[in-house]
Amino acid sequence: MAGIVAEHASFDRALNKIATISVVDLTRGLRHNTAPCVTQGHSRASHETFAKVTEVSISKAKKELNWAELGFQYRQTDFRFSATYSDGAWSAGELLASPLIAVHEGAPALHYAQQCFEGMKAQTAPDGRVLLFRPELNSERMNQTAERLLMPQVPLELFLRGVEEAVRANYAWIPPYGSGASLYIRPMLIGVGENLGLRPARTFEFRVFVSPVGPYYKSAGLAVISLAVSEFDRAAPAGTGAFKAGANYAGGLLATRHAQALGANEALYLDSKTRTYIDEAGSANIVVAMKGNRLVSPKSNAILPSVTRRSVMTLAEEQMKMQVENRPIDLRAELPEFEEVAACGTAAVLSPVGRIWVDGEWHAFYGNGEKVGPVMQKLYDLLVGIQRGELADVHGWTREVSMD
Ligand SMILES: Cc1ncc(COP(=O)(O)O)c(C=O)c1O
Repeated sequence: MAGIVAEHASFDRALNKIATISVVDLTRGLRHNTAPCVTQGHSRASHETFAKVTEVSISKAKKELNWAELGFQYRQTDFRFSATYSDGAWSAGELLASPLIAVHEGAPALHYAQQCFEGMKAQTAPDGRVLLFRPELNSERMNQTAERLLMPQVPLELFLRGVEEAVRANYAWIPPYGSGASLYIRPMLIGVGENLGLRPARTFEFRVFVSPVGPYYKSAGLAVISLAVSEFDRAAPAGTGAFKAGANYAGGLLATRHAQALGANEALYLDSKTRTYIDEAGSANIVVAMKGNRLVSPKSNAILPSVTRRSVMTLAEEQMKMQVENRPIDLRAELPEFEEVAACGTAAVLSPVGRIWVDGEWHAFYGNGEKVGPVMQKLYDLLVGIQRGELADVHGWTREVSMD
């Protein structure tokens, strides 16, 4: 391989793993383009930025973490997967040691938010298998977003290989069965390379990093959360709300802060055209258990098609014999019908919503907004049971990551 100036084997005792690290010549420039890179004054850290891992032997030893106490924070793991798209083709991809990405200062991802991402989890089953949950749907959604943002498709094979290589290489970081924690997986696609005017990038990086995580909301297990209707709009009716574009999220930071100032966990967005119908929460879709054994989720072309929500609706219909409806929900008009509400997503799993702040007052649901209701408890048990390999996976939703 061109540009290799050094190759050495490192032995990480904690991991009981041998990794051969190839250090790529910095004069090769940024990995994403041909822009020259000044080599003087580069420290060891700079070399690490470009280190390519050519061989990984997987440790069966786990990291010594207090798995049950993990929060939802980034924790650096040993390897990440990266592939580059240029001249109309994807590179084979490789594992990298460094969490840093060197991109050109003109990169369209930085200026025009030409980037997108996905969020998934790997869980350890009772028999030790490591399971993904419906990863094909994340691949499909990333490609839908890519199409909307004029980015190249990431072939399903590359997507799955990237996810699986990143998970496999970081075996030591995958929370063990019974810990309640999981390995969060963040695939991302970014427009890199030199650019100035508003136009699509010509070079892209597909990267997958992983991080062990605990619950998204502070308390472990099924914590009851609260939402506050936001005075901001999340997405325009024909905008990018249905896609997992980073651009959708920056504008939500202030909305979340306002919601938290009211004592809520997160913002709840209504449709931006009429401010009448429920769209979704900042990082999760909404499902509502209504009187008459119904589970209703908002239909809107401005919300992310949540993998979790789609799964939960199927489980409600098939296993709980509920009537499921996907239709606009008029928040104020239908509030009296709400029995239980939940926010659902990869990070949130299924978080019961006890209270919603609407037009200056709180509206509480099951158990005065303090208890988990039976519908959400049952749905959570079914969903998580399948994800963790505890219950029969009749739909074939889980996919085992081979550790060989
Ligand atoms: C805005 C938004 N809605 C919904 C979801 C839930 O989607 P999924 O269940 O596919 O994780 C997410 C991400 O988790 C999100 O960021």
